[in-house]
Amino acid sequence: MINFSSVTKQYFSDTALDQVSFTIEKGDFVFLVGPTGSGKTTIFRLIIRDLLPSQGEITIGTIDVVNLPKKKIRELRRNVGVVFQDLKLLLDRTVLENVMLPLQLSGVNDSEAESKAEELLVSVGLSSMLNKFPLQLSGGERQRVAIARALVFDPEVILADEPTGNLDMQTSLQILDLLDSINKRGTTIFMATHNDRIIDTTKKRVLVMERGKVKEDRRKKVEEKKHDEGKQEKKETKAHQEEPISLETLSKKEQKHDDAS
Ligand SMILES: Nc1ncnc2c1ncn2[C@@H]1O[C@H](COP(=O)(O)OP(=O)(O)OP(=O)(O)O)[C@@H](O)[C@H]1O
Ligand SMILES: [Mg+2]
Repeated sequence: MINFSSVTKQYFSDTALDQVSFTIEKGDFVFLVGPTGSGKTTIFRLIIRDLLPSQGEITIGTIDVVNLPKKKIRELRRNVGVVFQDLKLLLDRTVLENVMLPLQLSGVNDSEAESKAEELLVSVGLSSMLNKFPLQLSGGERQRVAIARALVFDPEVILADEPTGNLDMQTSLQILDLLDSINKRGTTIFMATHNDRIIDTTKKRVLVMERGKVKEDRRKKVEEKKHDEGKQEKKETKAHQEEPISLETLSKKEQKHDDAS
């Protein structure tokens, strides 16, 4: 679904990303972590063609993002909803108006835009906040508005840049639950976070950035781990009866397992 192949991004003489490669499958939920300045937001901006890489290839589904003609960028952005790190909510518009706006700008008539926005705001738990302004909401509620707005075009992918920043643990977990339920309906989620406890609780795949490089890719999901542990136990009980297995065969077997998963 999302593929980065040797992507480098330089801002003048500063290298924000250095030969970054990774693939995220359709329907996955992946965390992007790393210290401040390690390149997380840069990755998101590249995905939506808000920036071009200095080198490398980026594809989203079948879309070649780097060579995408300008007139198709809008289509890409409809397919990839973003919850921005600074939310980008319009403070002089109500919650409902904020979510309606991208629909109206794309030519959807007001009544359709209103009913879609209302439906989404209800689904993120904000039915009683429709006519409030962003500054009348709590941080967690504002995040929900940004999530509802990211969903207006029923995107295949959601990029969430620190959606739990500045929130307490309970509210963070509620936001995570909301993203989880969106993921369960089939939307791929790529979420940047500094919140280690959230990562530990959920056991999802984690891409760890450090100074513009992928430092670690913790791929395994809980079920895969359990599956592997089960296989390991069986292997251990059989070990005394069998010839030792060569590393080459083992890596081929693991490769097969990875391909199948
Ligand atoms: N527009 C820009 N011009 C120049 N340098 C930039 C620009 N945007 C980001 N950078 C630099 O690129 C690097 C990566 O920044 P990025 O915003 O991707 O980090 P991040 O991992 O999202 O950090 P944070 O956790 O603080 O949000 C940093 O060194 C930053 O200073
Ligand atoms: Mg950032």
